[in-house]
Formats: sequence, C-alpha cells, structure tokens
Amino acid sequence: MIKLDYKQIMAKLRGKLSGKRMRHSEGVMKSAAELAERYGANVEKAKLAGILHDCAREMPRNNLLQSAKAFGIVVSDIERQMPLLLHAPLGSKIAQAEYGIDDPEILSAIALHTTGAAKMTLLDKIVYLADFIEPGRDFPGVDTLRLLAKLDLDKAVLQAFDQSIRYILEHKGLIHPATIEGRNTLLMTMRI
Ligand SMILES: [Fe+2]
Ligand SMILES: [Fe+2]
Repeated sequence: MIKLDYKQIMAKLRGKLSGKRMRHSEGVMKSAAELAERYGANVEKAKLAGILHDCAREMPRNNLLQSAKAFGIVVSDIERQMPLLLHAPLGSKIAQAEYGIDDPEILSAIALHTTGAAKMTLLDKIVYLADFIEPGRDFPGVDTLRLLAKLDLDKAVLQAFDQSIRYILEHKGLIHPATIEGRNTLLMTMRI
C-alpha cells in the first residue's frame, strides 16, 4: 500500500477538490482537531479524517455508483436514488487505496460522516460534528451548535442529527436509516 505524508496528501487532494471544498476540508480538519483535544481523542487521527472526509465528494455521480460497486460497497435503494451519499463510504475506500490510510478508526470516521450510524466511536462523532461546525459553515443555528460542541459532544451531535433530519424533511428528501439509528442510539444512551 502507498504511504503518503501530510504534504503529499494535501497536494493530491488539491488535484481532486475545488478550492471551496479544499477550504471546507481544512476547516473540518481544524474543528476535528479542536474537538479531539477537548474530548480526548487522537488529534492526528482526527486531522487526517477531517482533511480526507470529502476526498470522493467531487467525483461525478455516475462514477460514484460504479466505483462504489467496484470497491464492493453494498448500494442500498436510497443510495441508488441519491448517489452523493456514497461519497462517504467510497471516500473511506479511496483514503485507503489512494492515500495510504490503514487506520480503521480514521476509515470509519470518513465512512460515517454523512449519515452517521447506530454505533459511532468518539472519532466518528467528532468528524460528523466537525463537518457541521467548521469555520466556513454558515447556517441559522451554527453558532449555537458551535457553543454546544464545546460543552457536550453527544448533545451537539444530537442537535446536528436533528438539524439534518429537519432539513431533509423540509426538502421532501429520503432519510437514510443510519441517520435515524444514529439519533435513536444517541438518545437512548444519553437517557441511561
Ligand atoms: Fe461529505
Ligand atoms: Fe464535508
């Protein structure tokens, strides 16, 4: 497997992502590192997952489906309808195959960053949340979410799930079951 250093990863990513997406990815890296420091996760892993989380985001839609199948990703009906969702699990495969990332925690955080999942590790939650609150994000409620992220990780992730589901409902979109499962698990563990 190829092994890239940080500089090589950045250079390769710049060739794959627009300037805007690159700045977003750098923002996610920064926010993920801050959250990792605050909540005791591995900062280096958070940075790598943050910078690489959207590495497949600008792949053309048709290629998303084809590549996902080529990597053996099981494509659900929802993902067939919305291939963009595949950029997360596919990004994880590409991070491994093309960027030399072999750490399962980093690969999991990349794979789950869009939908969440029933079982999320600390790093999964950090990257999921960092994608919402990175400095370039600007949506109603983002400042409250940033504040909450400093106080209580689980509450902030729950709020991000709520925000995401609300948005999907307003746009008559399909809710991925993993998002519902992720939210349910979080609510149940928070109430114990
Ligand atoms: Fe993404
Ligand atoms: Fe993102």
